[in-house]
Amino acid sequence: MDGTAELIETDRRYLVHPLHHPDDHRQPLVVVAGKGAMLYDADGREYIDSLSGLWNVNIGHGRGELADAAAAQMRRIAFASAYIGATNEPAVRLSEKIVRHAYANSGAVYFTTAGAESNESAFKFARYYWKVKDQPNKTKIISRIHAYHGVTMAAMSATGMAAYHKMFGPLVPGFIQVAPPYAYRWAGNEEAGLGAAEAVEKAILAEGADTVAAVIAEPVMGAGGVIVPPPSYFPRLREICDRHDVLLIADEVITGFGRTGRWFALGHWGVEPDLVSFAKGVTSGYLPLGGVIASKSVHEAIDSAPADRKFMHAATYSGHPVCCAVGLRNVEIIESEGLVERAAIIGKRLLAGLEGLRDLPVVGDVRGLGMMCGVELVADRATKAPAIGLGARITREAMARGLLPRIRAGSADPAIGDTICVAPPLMTPEATIDRIPEILRAAIVAAS
Ligand SMILES: Cc1ncc(COP(=O)(O)O)c(C=O)c1O
Repeated sequence: MDGTAELIETDRRYLVHPLHHPDDHRQPLVVVAGKGAMLYDADGREYIDSLSGLWNVNIGHGRGELADAAAAQMRRIAFASAYIGATNEPAVRLSEKIVRHAYANSGAVYFTTAGAESNESAFKFARYYWKVKDQPNKTKIISRIHAYHGVTMAAMSATGMAAYHKMFGPLVPGFIQVAPPYAYRWAGNEEAGLGAAEAVEKAILAEGADTVAAVIAEPVMGAGGVIVPPPSYFPRLREICDRHDVLLIADEVITGFGRTGRWFALGHWGVEPDLVSFAKGVTSGYLPLGGVIASKSVHEAIDSAPADRKFMHAATYSGHPVCCAVGLRNVEIIESEGLVERAAIIGKRLLAGLEGLRDLPVVGDVRGLGMMCGVELVADRATKAPAIGLGARITREAMARGLLPRIRAGSADPAIGDTICVAPPLMTPEATIDRIPEILRAAIVAAS
């Protein structure tokens, strides 16, 4: 048995993977190295990393500067508690940088270790805020169908994809899901953006505004199939939240740190959220780190609470010095290499290339914002009947041609076809960007 075969055998025996089923693990990809936008497997094969790992490796693979930042910080002090009464420099410096790059109303950062924990924390920030404001019954959270918010119980309950609930119910009470701003399949009478915002308002009114703490929304829905909202959606949603005293949580776990061509994405539509969840791109995935950005007014509520109503939310690794040192170096690289601006420009090139796939009969929709694009597959373009299962064949064909794709598996109800998600590193060279639609075209033709 060679080294790779032995590794896979041992993997099968001892490792439970995310989204585990043995049928999906017959020929696992063993990635051994990465450089820029490219990955290399144990057999020396090269792939374009068309999803930046899991939407997170914004600065690209193999950046020694981040390894150096981690090693230097570990040698100095690897761990120090950031609980109240203590602090450390990387956490302080990174929080300041993030607030400066975020929204005009952003106030302060609480650090977590991942996106789900960020959302979980954001829900607790929202409940806490309303309790400080003497509105303790405002506890419910409204989210959207097709949303993905993470694996923990509350984040899973906000997630709008039934497959993630099926074997883990019941869901946490007080989580309500409404229609997303999904223009390609919007079936209401109104324009999709306004109609979907009204759906949130209807839910607030049905539940009673005095029981709703927050609405959580990804600026561009990612894992659910790269659903880009019409420009009317977020401004109207902000108005609705303000009208009913409901906080707006932007889940920017994917969209944060430059992915859409802005540091944070709601700026595309001139909207400021009350809370922002982030993770992934803050370290480009080199170490696990996430967090919540509280607006000035939420921060003020925390800082002005009496001692008997303090913010009793804690995690051992909040403000972890090594993760924050790596985050700081990563943000410096995004700044110095102009990767946010680059994502806006090169993202247009990527989307234009993918638009060229529209002549293929199975391509129903192509959408994107910055370096975050989706190609939705249909069985019939006229009826928009979702293609289901085609994505798995396309994955095999694309991998054989040197591109590693990620597919959002489609569903009949609510309808969405298998969607090829394309979100390469923000530094991906033009020539590599241009190869992505070329390889996908060949893979789709071969698979369909
Ligand atoms: C929008 C969004 N929120 C939250 C999460 C959960 O993040 P994590 O897997 O780091 O917990 C993800 C993960 O893909 C995500 O895409």
